[in-house]
Amino acid sequence: MKYNIAVIPGDGIGPEIVGEAQRVLDAVGKKFGHEFNYTKVLMGGCSIDVHGVPLTEEALQTCKDSDSVLLGAVGGNVGMSNWYNRPPQERPEAGLLALRKGLELFANIRPAYLYPELKDRCPLRDEVIGEGFDMVIMRELTGGLYFGKRFTEEVNGVQKATDTLTYDENEIRRIAIKGFEIARKRRHKVISVDKANVLDSSRLWRKVVEEVAKEYPDVELSHMLVDNCAMQLVKTPGQFDVILTENMFGDILSDEASEVTGSIGMLSSASLGATKLGLYEPSHGSAPDIAGLGIANPIATILSAAMMLRYSFDMKEEPDAIENAVKQVLADGYRTGDIWSEGCKKVGTTEMGAAIIERL
Ligand code: NAD
Ligand code: IPM
Ligand code: MN
Repeated sequence: MKYNIAVIPGDGIGPEIVGEAQRVLDAVGKKFGHEFNYTKVLMGGCSIDVHGVPLTEEALQTCKDSDSVLLGAVGGNVGMSNWYNRPPQERPEAGLLALRKGLELFANIRPAYLYPELKDRCPLRDEVIGEGFDMVIMRELTGGLYFGKRFTEEVNGVQKATDTLTYDENEIRRIAIKGFEIARKRRHKVISVDKANVLDSSRLWRKVVEEVAKEYPDVELSHMLVDNCAMQLVKTPGQFDVILTENMFGDILSDEASEVTGSIGMLSSASLGATKLGLYEPSHGSAPDIAGLGIANPIATILSAAMMLRYSFDMKEEPDAIENAVKQVLADGYRTGDIWSEGCKKVGTTEMGAAIIERL
């Protein structure tokens, strides 16, 4: 079968890691008899350089017309043009937010799994790691602080900046349903994370999540305050199955969860909405500090491509094959710099991609 994929390499390490994910997809296509057609789309700083805006209408339309979107990362304080000497809505990251909103991708799934082979890269003590951990962060992606009213003004000669955090019950309900649905396919446990001791939006969040939970009697629901959750993630990570949370909390907690899996270079993500069209991207950024050096870890992006096959194309064997190849490559001792430890083979981005393809 033929699949049309919009590919957004983006900025920094984006083109390097996306290139490996595409090579892996091509190898999967060859092995399983699928045809993946790619349409390259500019978004982020590279789009500002060419078009003066981080996301053009045409670029968004190309994504809408595709079966799915694969993205590297955008932004970074490098580059010849002054990407950050511009109003906030014209900067690289604004392109990403407009894309998520434009495709109505309200549910962001970020799985944080500790591969046994990477146990020595986990900064936690052995007794804290225990049997390891395997959690999913279900992050709301098109509401909250990211999309509320924001403005800067001067009041009586004093500068003042405002950002607003708003959720309506429908936005909460649809992400909660996604959270419970995914818990049903896992260990049947949802921990909803909020700040209900302070925020009205969190109190509504809790109320709606409890209503949704009634439809899922087979799933155990509990609530946790976000500050406690940040602590529990490094104290007892094994307790988490599905973390259900709002946009900003999910952004912060997923970076934290990534580091306990060994590196943010391992953390994949899928952004989904009401249709099969999804956006697949690593949870990390454009890593300007290592861009162009050929040392970035492509695994998060490759695992995101596997999620694309699973969630957008309803495949099973194919994503399993990619995930097994990643496991095998780690078992065989291949490591990019971010996950390297004594006695392992240090490889660059393309060598890691090639080693995964060999094991497909
Ligand atoms: P970052 O995730 O880019 O980098 C943080 C650290 O992790 C750096 O030391 C980097 O070298 C390392 N790192 C990240 N990915 C790696 C990989 N695959 N392999 C090895 N090491 C890796 O975060 P940052 O430095 O805060 O942000 C840089 C830029 O990226 C900013 O402009 C930010 O807005 C943007 N950003 C974009 C996305 C996205 O496009 N989805 C996500 C996060 C940040
Ligand atoms: C992420 C990133 C983005 C976010 C930025 C670049 C807008 O940090 O995907 O985690 O905050 O969602
Ligand atoms: Mn982030």
